[in-house]
Amino acid sequence: MQASFMVVANWKMNGCRDRVTNLSHELITRCGFLNQPKIVLCPPYIYLERVQETLASSKISLGAQDLSCENNGAFTGNISGEMLVDVGVQYVIIGHSERRLNNAETNDIILKKLSIAQFQGMTSIFCIGENIVEKQLGNTFKAIDHQLKPVITLIKNDPSIKCIVAYEPVWSIGTGCSASVQDVERVNKYIKQIFNDLNYPIKIIYGGSVNEMNIEQFVAIKSLDGVIVGNASLSADKLINICMRVEKQTMNTLADIV
Ligand code: 13P
Repeated sequence: MQASFMVVANWKMNGCRDRVTNLSHELITRCGFLNQPKIVLCPPYIYLERVQETLASSKISLGAQDLSCENNGAFTGNISGEMLVDVGVQYVIIGHSERRLNNAETNDIILKKLSIAQFQGMTSIFCIGENIVEKQLGNTFKAIDHQLKPVITLIKNDPSIKCIVAYEPVWSIGTGCSASVQDVERVNKYIKQIFNDLNYPIKIIYGGSVNEMNIEQFVAIKSLDGVIVGNASLSADKLINICMRVEKQTMNTLADIV
């Protein structure tokens, strides 16, 4: 576990005005002023501003789940990076496997999105991870190599890019079957080596069936900088529990060091 641990809540296409407002209010009341973990809430686009208003004076940050690969213009239904920044977004999820699959997002599209996020000064939460077939064939690193190409291209061009890698094995998302500590450590080691060679201090977070029962095993992984939570982040109690457990474990670790 690193000095600063992140908990990113990806609410995906869930909630309504009241639910989203209540969820963020409850979180702020109980966790809004914790130094640990660093919390990022990623509501659906339409609720970004509403959540931003509730977060105002707290330490919690606002994230978006995606952005357009175009800057502006005749792109009906799209939301630009500039618009996100305009409503207070600091983080943006890019390349989530659900978008790669359901919206046919290729590396070319993802590269454009990463470039726009960089230009707008947002931190990209860049998702990668193998599917079940790739895992079974022993092709996890091959899949990761392919998915990392856009971000490597950008870093070579501009090392000041703000990017966090989210390792989210597709087979673990929404299945209740999270990756093992060994799986995460093995993949983190591989990813860190790639970024070390580029002199880029990469942060890696893990996503895939993280909940209040298994969070402690992820906090204990030294090479891991946080988690990205889907289903469990839709319950205020579960999300607060996750954050509280991270806080407690972090404090205990710091006390041990001192
Ligand atoms: P679950 O936590 O529901 O498995 O979702 C993970 C995820 O996709 C986060 O981006």
